[in-house]
Amino acid sequence: MKGRNSFGSRFGVLVAMAGSAVGLGNLWRFPYLLGEDGGGAFLFVYLLFVVVLCIPIMICEFLIGRRSQTDAFGAFKELVPGSKWGFVGLMGVFASVFIVSFYSVVGGWSVNYLVSSLQFKFTSGSCDPSEMFSTLVSSPVKPVIYHLIFLLFTALIIAAGVKKGIERYTKLMMPLLFVMIIIIAIRSMTLPGASAGLRYLFKPDFSKIDGQVLLDALGQAFFSLSLGIGTILTYASYVKKEENILKCTAYTSIADTLFAIIAGCAIMPAVFSFGLEPGQGPGLVFVTLPGIFAQLPLGGVAAILFFFTLFLAALTSCISMLEVIVALMVDEFKMKRGVACVITFIFFGISGTLCSLSQGTLADLHILGKNIFDLCDFCSANILMPLGAIFIVLFVGWKMPKPDVIDELTNGGTVKTPAWLLKAIYIIIRYIAPVFISIIFLAGMLK
Ligand code: PHE
Repeated sequence: MKGRNSFGSRFGVLVAMAGSAVGLGNLWRFPYLLGEDGGGAFLFVYLLFVVVLCIPIMICEFLIGRRSQTDAFGAFKELVPGSKWGFVGLMGVFASVFIVSFYSVVGGWSVNYLVSSLQFKFTSGSCDPSEMFSTLVSSPVKPVIYHLIFLLFTALIIAAGVKKGIERYTKLMMPLLFVMIIIIAIRSMTLPGASAGLRYLFKPDFSKIDGQVLLDALGQAFFSLSLGIGTILTYASYVKKEENILKCTAYTSIADTLFAIIAGCAIMPAVFSFGLEPGQGPGLVFVTLPGIFAQLPLGGVAAILFFFTLFLAALTSCISMLEVIVALMVDEFKMKRGVACVITFIFFGISGTLCSLSQGTLADLHILGKNIFDLCDFCSANILMPLGAIFIVLFVGWKMPKPDVIDELTNGGTVKTPAWLLKAIYIIIRYIAPVFISIIFLAGMLK
């Protein structure tokens, strides 16, 4: 498409993709699932799923976006003219709507925690982390304001465009993120008794693997790699034709997985060192860690580093989700980028406010037995993401002509890829991935 935005460099593409993948999923969800699902055993299954299943799914999304060079709705029509598969892109947009609504609220909490850490509240001696967390999330005004601040950051970066906004800022933020999480991990691993946490993380007890662990690991791999809702597709549509798809997707997955493992090394040793319960769920980051910071030498500084990391990670992921929606408004409705950003800001300002209020003022408002926040989480992670991924692999495996798929994977035959590898990827895309994802989906629905 003439005059369409694009990434300016290979490094820019890779950091933007990694920025999308690395987020609250790595820093908050991954460690808590590790804690609940047996540590090393969970990590082992997780890694297996990333390699054999999720990378091929990411390849499919990337391939659709790069070949069509258009948004998540238009892409399917572009590749198979006359096909009705555009609904898959629309489902992705719906999923993004649900995820952004609650994700930006949690992003707002991270801004609030960052501000508190800058005021050295966690190390002041008078802070009760669990009361602080519950007071914040249930208050009617404060978290809404922080949510709006977080959303404003996101919208402003997107409004600046792909190269001048997304690429420029994520290029700065991602290396910073890696440096910060490594510093925190080193601090945590050198605490007395930290080795118990590392043993828990890296010494798998295979007897712990059961159906639940398999499902959790697969779902987490999905969420963490931003699969199934058109995010990777949209970013790939800004990628030049010379880039190597297999390399881009492999690097993104490696960066995300490495970050998750380092996040595990940052959190688990500290949790074990302070004798805390690893399987605390959502409270792990917001309740347990401030308690730990309070007892650490230089804890005030560690808290600032950590919550700044959390904020940046949430920001780069939220940018990628909002971009799916803005791209669609720009490409399909020929809207100006700035106008699309204002509309999305207003929309998510309202939907996020409802999610935030559902933690306090609107806690009694239940739809399908869930409050609004949990409903958004459920609809996106348990329904729309797996469903979207099933359709994406089916589209590439069964609907797109095989020569087109191979042509795109090898950049018209110019990238030398071993024949066995292409064959293995194609078999996974056509048969193995749809079956496996269907299993997660059904299990998620029946839970
Ligand atoms: N991968 C992001 C995280 O780990 C979340 C995300 C999901 C981002 C889907 C984009 C799309 O936090």
